[in-house]
Amino acid sequence: MSFKLLATPLQGFTDFRFRNAVDKFFGGVDTYFAPYVHLQGQMEIKNSYKRDLSPLNNDVKQLIPQVMTNSAEEFLFVAHYVQTLGYTELNWNLGCPYPMVTKRGLGSGLLKETAQIDRLLKRVSDESDINISLKMRLGYEDSHEILNLLPILEKHRIKSIIIHPRIGKQLYKGEVNLDIFHRCVENTSHAVCYNGDIQSVTQFRELKQRFPDIHEWAIGRGVVSNPFLAEMIKTDSEHLPHNWMDQFSDFHDALFQYYDEALSGPKHIVLKMQSFWAYFSSLFENPHKTYKIIKKAKSISSYHEAVRTNLARARN
Ligand SMILES: Cc1cc2nc3c(=O)[nH]c(=O)nc-3n(C[C@H](O)[C@H](O)[C@H](O)COP(=O)(O)O)c2cc1C
Repeated sequence: MSFKLLATPLQGFTDFRFRNAVDKFFGGVDTYFAPYVHLQGQMEIKNSYKRDLSPLNNDVKQLIPQVMTNSAEEFLFVAHYVQTLGYTELNWNLGCPYPMVTKRGLGSGLLKETAQIDRLLKRVSDESDINISLKMRLGYEDSHEILNLLPILEKHRIKSIIIHPRIGKQLYKGEVNLDIFHRCVENTSHAVCYNGDIQSVTQFRELKQRFPDIHEWAIGRGVVSNPFLAEMIKTDSEHLPHNWMDQFSDFHDALFQYYDEALSGPKHIVLKMQSFWAYFSSLFENPHKTYKIIKKAKSISSYHEAVRTNLARARN
């Protein structure tokens, strides 16, 4: 059975530069999601969101914008904005786990507010023809929150539901709850996409075997840690290509160049690239040492030297 691979966003990492570079150098991802747009009380789209969503900046085949809100007005405002750019779908973030967000009744903090979700979806469907998809966790406090919500979602026109089977309180740690995920699939007529902890081809195969009816699989951190992963899954190959260091090096240099053009000052560029290595280092035999070498760099030249050292160690 054919399937689609979706790359879910990591705010602070998967902006248009990163998405374009992954798509150009690796492929394998069918659909990318942009990190969420959050309006912060004003009906105004910040320039950084505008840049990230501008079709002029995005080279990938399919990009879906995302919004994080608990207000129908805000949802409709963002929906209208993205429609003017040519997008036909808006993804609603009901998954963000951070207390700063959830305490304000946003992200996974909204999941238990079934009546509020119901009202928002009704109003948005009445007033806009945008396709709505949801990205959510099992709950914030309790993994049964989603089971209370799913019957309400049956009434609504929803394109698909991406489910990350953790609760908000877990943040990104602990086990994913595949039993409750299974119950979700049984309790909805909407298309469900699985998202969570897909880091290898073996893990993907196991999940696919357990959930043979799932057509869409979403990967977040796995694509940043291993940008080869989506193509490896598509070709069912457990191993990195034998020349992966060369391909990774070309990707890295392109990414560096994009940020070099966009950010001002060597300190910002080095910090930005170092943040990626918290993920990239897992490609290397000794991730801890790899990351340590990168973290020591204080200037652009020492950063490049650190990258060369890591790649040389991988080649030997
Ligand atoms: C640093 C970071 C930022 C994230 N930002 C977003 C975001 O903007 N929107 C969103 O829907 N999910 C966001 N996520 C969640 C991921 O997209 C993904 O759903 C989650 O990490 C689980 O999938 P994974 O195990 O494949 O990473 C973020 C995760 C991390 C670690």
